[in-house]
Amino acid sequence: MRILSGMRPTGHLHIGNLVGALDNWVKLQEGNETYFFVADWHMLTTGYKDTSTLSQMTKVLVIEYLSAGIDPQKSVIFVQSAIKGHAELFLILSMITPLGRLERIPTYKEQLRELSDREITTFGFLGYPVLMASDILIYDADGVPVGEDQTYHLEFTREIAEKFNSLYGETLKIPKALFSPVPKLLGTDGRKMSKSYGNVINIDSNLKELKDKIMPMPTDPARIHRYDPGTPEKCNVWHYHLAFNTPKEKLDYIHEGCTKATIGCIECKKILIESMANKLGPIWEKIAYYKAHENEVEEIINDGNEKAKKSAEETMKRVRRAINLSF
Ligand code: TRP
Ligand code: SF4
Repeated sequence: MRILSGMRPTGHLHIGNLVGALDNWVKLQEGNETYFFVADWHMLTTGYKDTSTLSQMTKVLVIEYLSAGIDPQKSVIFVQSAIKGHAELFLILSMITPLGRLERIPTYKEQLRELSDREITTFGFLGYPVLMASDILIYDADGVPVGEDQTYHLEFTREIAEKFNSLYGETLKIPKALFSPVPKLLGTDGRKMSKSYGNVINIDSNLKELKDKIMPMPTDPARIHRYDPGTPEKCNVWHYHLAFNTPKEKLDYIHEGCTKATIGCIECKKILIESMANKLGPIWEKIAYYKAHENEVEEIINDGNEKAKKSAEETMKRVRRAINLSF
């Protein structure tokens, strides 16, 4: 299958992105043709006022993709704005997109409300799903790994591709959403993980930052005292253990210790920090490496952009032919 996904360069990746998306992308690299990109034009749809760090954040995101295991030998890693075909397809698809259809996408009104301080009653923000459809359709993607919040956008992508095909003949491939096989990790305070709540752990955090975030985590409220038994399944720390692959024998030790009150939450959290450091340690090393070798990162981006351009141009030739744009 050809698989494509991307993220906006709005800040460092956090552990939710890692276990909920990147780990899955890394697996999908085996046996598929994978395309992963930085959606920098998308960042402008909500963040157009301050673009001062856009290039820097784009590079950081590529570094974090690479460090999390996206392999430039296996995947095409590229930057959206370098591939002008996305904008051309966006323009063409916008001709056949009814305004009402965009206004009805549930995340549209929701975000207008949530981001009411940003002045995003703009054409670009309303049209964002058309741009996303272009990102996907221009690479003939079969599958798009996305979070549940992107379901509506994928559905819109399929619809608009079908409409194009019915108007101008079979031209665009109809993609499928691929949902991540792992459950969502909650923030350290037990609420939805979100930068605005300050409950996220970035993948580039160091050991001290890990400790500062993990030690105060709320646990099963039944465990008021050290001698009160608890239920690991009711505890966010336990779910973190599962997400960070704490080894089986330690999991058994914690499960029994928690339910029989033979271990305390502090010990349990120390084991978690160890598991997290085991998983993140190699990522930290790679981040440090790529930060010290930015030329290498730029080469990877340039190389990926070239490959993406070729593939995008093939689709655009078909699209232009279908719609009778021949000059
Ligand atoms: N909309 C996604 C987000 O905000 C990013 C994105 C843009 C994307 N284009 C895409 C994801 C195409 C998958 C496929 O996180
Ligand atoms: Fe949670 Fe661990 Fe405490 Fe049990 S021992 S309540 S799993 S932190």
